[in-house]
Amino acid sequence: MNEQQKKIRAMLADRKGILLVHYYARPEIQEIADVLGDSLALAQAAARSDARVIVFAGVHFMAQSAAMLSPEKIVLLPRLDAGCPLADMAGPDAVRKMRQDHPDAVFVTYINSTAEVKAESDICCTSSNALKIIQALPPSKKAVMLPDGNLARHAAAATGREIIAWEGCCPIHQALTGEDVAARRREHPRAVFAAHPECRPEVLALADFVGSTSAILRFARETKAMEIIIGTEKGILTQLAKENPEKTFIPASDALFCDDMKKISLDDIERSLTTMQPVITVPRQVSEAAKKALDKMLAVS
Ligand code: 13P
Repeated sequence: MNEQQKKIRAMLADRKGILLVHYYARPEIQEIADVLGDSLALAQAAARSDARVIVFAGVHFMAQSAAMLSPEKIVLLPRLDAGCPLADMAGPDAVRKMRQDHPDAVFVTYINSTAEVKAESDICCTSSNALKIIQALPPSKKAVMLPDGNLARHAAAATGREIIAWEGCCPIHQALTGEDVAARRREHPRAVFAAHPECRPEVLALADFVGSTSAILRFARETKAMEIIIGTEKGILTQLAKENPEKTFIPASDALFCDDMKKISLDDIERSLTTMQPVITVPRQVSEAAKKALDKMLAVS
């Protein structure tokens, strides 16, 4: 640990705080995490923790979810501009309108969404529990999944259920093409390919494994393959390399880099713990409804 990392750990101890870090965050922040995890693990950690302060090294919707799951805690997001373009692809008015068009459908909302959209939903999901949540719905029910169309199509194909897809996407995963994957496979003919379900259907069709960030980490530990092409944001390579020093990980494309997930630096965390700002809060009316959808997800997970 360098001096600044030590200082941040001491400040966290002093404020009874914990640092929750997503696998896509900068390596020097991953190193000092209390919990390093995928979206689901971080939401579960926020709900269970008895800390007084949660510092989130992720993006805005993750900190919002933590604030709703732990309303008694102070939730800090060191950079307010760390957003998620996918989350911004669905707004509450459009979701209300779609509910009118599909009055009998269950609205399953990806955690990569705003609190206002979660508040219009029946249940949330992440990429690690989406299939389980769809399978737990009554068989006669059709589902609307939002805002990630690729995740919705993957869930429909994997479960055989009727799912209406909202046409949003993560621009980072969407940028990965089948041609990129084919090129990497030509360069590394013995490699297997693991992809996140936010990738396009043509990319998922080429994958040896499809799963969330934590599922990709599990796959990488368990596979006998020594070379693995990775179809998700490059930040995950830090943990993949740490857990599997003998294996080689190849990003499926150089474009798999999320600026938003890399915004928060050690300086930002130190400043945030000094000023105890910016605090993420959600208006009570919104959070009451949105938390119900999050709680239902956690109950099924
Ligand atoms: P995970 O649930 O796999 O952590 O997905 C995070 C995410 O935001 C993908 O873009």
